[in-house]
Amino acid sequence: MVDLVTQYQRLKPEIDSAMQAVINKAAFISGPEVKLFATELEQYLNINHVVPCANGTDALQIALMALNLPEGAEVLVPCFNYVATAEVIALLKLKPVFVEVEEQFYGIDVTKLESYLTPNTKVIMPVHLFGQCANMEAVLAFAQKHNLYVVEDVAQAIGAKYTFSDGTVKTAGSMGHIGTTSFFPSKNLGCMGDGGAIFTMDAELAQTMRVLANHGQKQKYQYELIGVNSRLDTLQAALLRVKLQHLDDFVARRRKAAAYYDTALANVEGLIIPKRASFSDHVFHQYTLQVTKGSRDALKNALEAKGIPSMVYYPGCLHLQVAYCGYGYSEGMFPVGEQLAKTVISLPMHTELTEEQQAYIVAGVKEVMAAI
Ligand SMILES: Cc1ncc(COP(=O)(O)O)c(C=O)c1O
Repeated sequence: MVDLVTQYQRLKPEIDSAMQAVINKAAFISGPEVKLFATELEQYLNINHVVPCANGTDALQIALMALNLPEGAEVLVPCFNYVATAEVIALLKLKPVFVEVEEQFYGIDVTKLESYLTPNTKVIMPVHLFGQCANMEAVLAFAQKHNLYVVEDVAQAIGAKYTFSDGTVKTAGSMGHIGTTSFFPSKNLGCMGDGGAIFTMDAELAQTMRVLANHGQKQKYQYELIGVNSRLDTLQAALLRVKLQHLDDFVARRRKAAAYYDTALANVEGLIIPKRASFSDHVFHQYTLQVTKGSRDALKNALEAKGIPSMVYYPGCLHLQVAYCGYGYSEGMFPVGEQLAKTVISLPMHTELTEEQQAYIVAGVKEVMAAI
């Protein structure tokens, strides 16, 4: 699905020298590269404050901690989604309120938001799934109307740009009160281990999140808040500084690979290629198809037999997971999300895909679909 080895080989001299410089100084924790990376990412994303942390899940947790919500406060979160958002909501003794997603772009279905509101609703967490922004204009209008915080999960869409109806363009993570991301190795901007960051335009929130990520201390051994220990390693920051220089090229390579798949698969009966939203560009963290003929799992198994990797993100909605059954959801409550969990399949998508590899992949997909 990804080829991090070839990417490393291509960038090896730059990466090795940046990481070796950290090793030579042994400044492994909070070395200067961490701050430099944060500043460079602020500039790249046009976001006032980037607070580095240990991973994307911590970023979500620290974001919610910073909002200082009362126990039981309700947080709206998409049902068809990675688990991290729901997990941190529940861990902080807040209540995840799952919401339906829309079929074409996989974002929160903004037409249904009013129906989930209660006096306890405090936050909405749009997730920019697969590399495209959720419908943020509608999310922001809804949040403003009902006085909600907006926390964007940008783990799959770093650098994606959203265009508002008045023509204003903003980057994913800069539109809500807080944005969060992950530098998990396979992400568009990935490190060599775990890493994450939190974004905000608000200086006060940024300061609170810095304190929270550092054991709640503003000054050494003075604990003002109950915090966590969540740091981005200097080695990872040094590597990320190198990779950030290549992020535009990484996205261009992903888009080129997506265009190849599009052309080859657009007319295959039983497949829906990724639709592009008018309001967001697409940075193709995943290239996700919907299978409307035969069974998605049959396609997946047949591809596997041909040596073609594929993945299902995600095979089950969060509201139906055992861990979340205590919240009273049942099958049928979110028909779109539940249907997507049965029909989506993602093909290999990364910066090093060759046309030969893609030709083999699409030939395999076409052959299987013709036989289904
Ligand atoms: C949408 C989304 N949110 C959050 C995360 C969590 O990031 P991490 O694995 O760095 O904790 C991920 C990672 O897969 C993700 O895809």
